This record gives sequence, C-alpha cells and structure tokens, in this order.
Amino acid sequence: MLAQFPENHFDMVFADPPYMLSNGGFTVHAGKRASVNKGKWDKSQGLEADFKFHMEWIEACKRVLKPEGTIWISGTYHSIYACGYALQLLGYKLLNDIAWYKPNASPNLSCRFFTASHETILWARKSEKAKHIFNYAAMREGSWGKDFLKKPGKQMRSIWAIGTPPREEKTFGKHPTQKPLELLKRIVLASTNPGALILDPFSGSATTGLAAIGAGRCYVGIDMEKKYLELSVKRVKKIWAGNQQA
Ligand SMILES: C[S@@+](CC[C@H](N)C(=O)[O-])C[C@H]1O[C@@H](n2cnc3c(N)ncnc32)[C@H](O)[C@@H]1O
Repeated sequence: MLAQFPENHFDMVFADPPYMLSNGGFTVHAGKRASVNKGKWDKSQGLEADFKFHMEWIEACKRVLKPEGTIWISGTYHSIYACGYALQLLGYKLLNDIAWYKPNASPNLSCRFFTASHETILWARKSEKAKHIFNYAAMREGSWGKDFLKKPGKQMRSIWAIGTPPREEKTFGKHPTQKPLELLKRIVLASTNPGALILDPFSGSATTGLAAIGAGRCYVGIDMEKKYLELSVKRVKKIWAGNQQA
C-alpha cells in the first residue's frame, strides 16, 4: 500500500510493527496464565526473514516521508535491534531511543527472568541534515498525567512512565497489542505541528489516529486485519463526536 503514496508526503510516521514474539510462550493476564500469541501476523519467520521484512517496510516509509520528517518505531528486544539496524543501514539519522516504562506491567510467571516492564521507541529523521520538528517547550512545560518521572518545568527525559491502556480505551473491544493513548499523544505533540499528516503503517486499533485527530493533525492508518480496521472506525467516530477516550 505504501507504494501508492507519492514521495515526500508525510510529516511523521509512527510504526508499531509485529514484535515477532508470538511463538507459544505464556504471560499473566488479570492474574491468570495466558498465551503470549497475538495472531499469525506476530509469528517470527526466522531471524533473516524478519530482518528482510523490517528493511522493506522501513525503506518504503523513507520514500513517503518528507526530508525533515521523522519516524518512531516501537518494539521489544525481539524486534527493536533489527529495526534499529535497518534504520542505520537505510541512512536515517537516529535522534533518541525512548524507554517506555510500564509501571503496571504483568508479572513474570516463570520467576526465572526479570519482569519485562518496558518497550523501546526509536526516533529517527529521514535525512542527515534536514531540521526536524521538536516541540521542546511543550514537552518541558506540559502536563504529563501520572508520569512520576517527569518533573514540572524540567526538560523531558528519555524515560517515560506510562501505564498500559486503561479500560476506558477499550470501550469497543481491544487490540492485543494496543498502545495507550497517552503515549501516542506525547509522540504526536513532540514531533509534529497542527495540520501535519501522520502515517501509521501498522495501525491496529488506530491509537495513533486518535492522538493525531485529537491534536488537530491528519491521519492515514494501514492494517491488514479487517477486524482491527472495524474497531478503528468505531474509535475514530467517537473522537470525531468529541470524546477524548474510546
Ligand atoms: C503491534 S500491532 C499495532 C497496534 C497499534 N499500535 C494499536 O495501538 O492498536 C501491529 C498491527 O500490524 C498489523 N500488521 C501486521 N503485519 C502487517 C502488514 N504486513 N501490513 C499491514 N498491517 C500489518 C497487525 O494486524 C496488527 O494490527
């Protein structure tokens, strides 16, 4: 689908690609043992095939990004190193790696590892030299809800404490890897101006779309699963109706 868009078209891309971790493991959900499997789309095809996939979509995003545009990519250790290497090979300029700390992450069942409580979000610019947008003052002075790591009036650091999506964000059902709206609001406000055109090539339940529309930006979301697109339409309609959750 990305091939259908003109070059240099989008101001910003947020991508939450498959993490390739749906390989039969277990986690805890609501106090009970639950499969980590999210869907066929999240199954690893092996290290090399997974890397080829990341190279292809990250290259396709580069073509459609404006020269001063930036891309954000979220992931865990299952995928984020491959995405980071692909960004570097493709000539993007890495700007930050954000540690999204989840204070309410599920406990570890086996008690043989540390409890996985964060994801990494890479932020990179398409071109080496262009000047990207960073709304520094809005980040420093803003109000950041329950993020106890952000001190009022101080520079925003690269570790963000944001819980997993609250119940109010699952009114219409949930996506298995849904991101919290608060996380996407911060990303949208940090790296775009009103009117910007934002792309999410792995849109899921369109959390990026909700954050974009809520902040007066425009949104294009792509997903290959019809059920997630249907969920997205319901969530977006609620935002259009003026409700800031969904
Ligand atoms: C990690 S989830 C994104 C969740 C999203 N950030 C949210 O808040 O709901 C990845 C999404 O990418 C979709 N997907 C996987 N492979 C894809 C592909 N090749 N093309 C388009 N969508 C794909 C899946 O259906 C899934 O909804």
